[in-house]
Amino acid sequence: MVKIAPSVLSADFSNLKESLAPVASADYLHVDIMDGLFVPNISLGFPVLAGIRKATSLPLDVHLMVERPVRYVERFCDGGADIVTVHVEADTEENIHAALDKIRAKGKKCGVVVKPKTPAEAVLPFFDKCDIILVMTVEPGFGGQSFMADMMPKVSQIRSRIDQWKPQCELEVDGGVAPGTCKTCIDAGANVLVAGSAVFGAADIPARIAALRG
Ligand code: DX5
Ligand code: ZN
Repeated sequence: MVKIAPSVLSADFSNLKESLAPVASADYLHVDIMDGLFVPNISLGFPVLAGIRKATSLPLDVHLMVERPVRYVERFCDGGADIVTVHVEADTEENIHAALDKIRAKGKKCGVVVKPKTPAEAVLPFFDKCDIILVMTVEPGFGGQSFMADMMPKVSQIRSRIDQWKPQCELEVDGGVAPGTCKTCIDAGANVLVAGSAVFGAADIPARIAALRG
């Protein structure tokens, strides 16, 4: 079944417990970490992650939009992440491998992320280690942007590699996912859909989560 990961970036941070209660039927809670360098925005850090960890029992899917993530992955694992993903563009191949190894050594799931301009082949060196691969369907940095349908061939390409070599690996898309775009993502082969504004902006959040499953 298709999994839904609401992005906490669109939640009301003034009362996390209350704003996260309606997303309890989702599969993961997606947590965007932005450092102001890898992307031109700053989101949240360790104290807020600790608050999120206390406010929900959903597995936390932590998306690091951070330069040289190898410096911080262990702290995110210790801070309550269940899944940690790092961008292939954020460091050398060697250091991305080191980051994935550190996450796995903590007993957490790991994966790599590709920005829109990065080709599917960029995930291949890391394929063996990945529990999940994330394809961005917007330029990372901000919620509420328009979905890039031209990323679907990349999703399909990675889906065929996964089916061939590692069927248990999850394939996630992030950015602009909404009722009008979820089916395209599912048809292209994604099995985890991140949605921020489409979930937290809905009048009936549980119904919206169900609708996004396609
Ligand atoms: C963008 C983030 C996304 C964002 C998605 O850089 O990685 O997770 O919160 O938000 P929507 O679903 O509103 O595009
Ligand atoms: Zn994200």
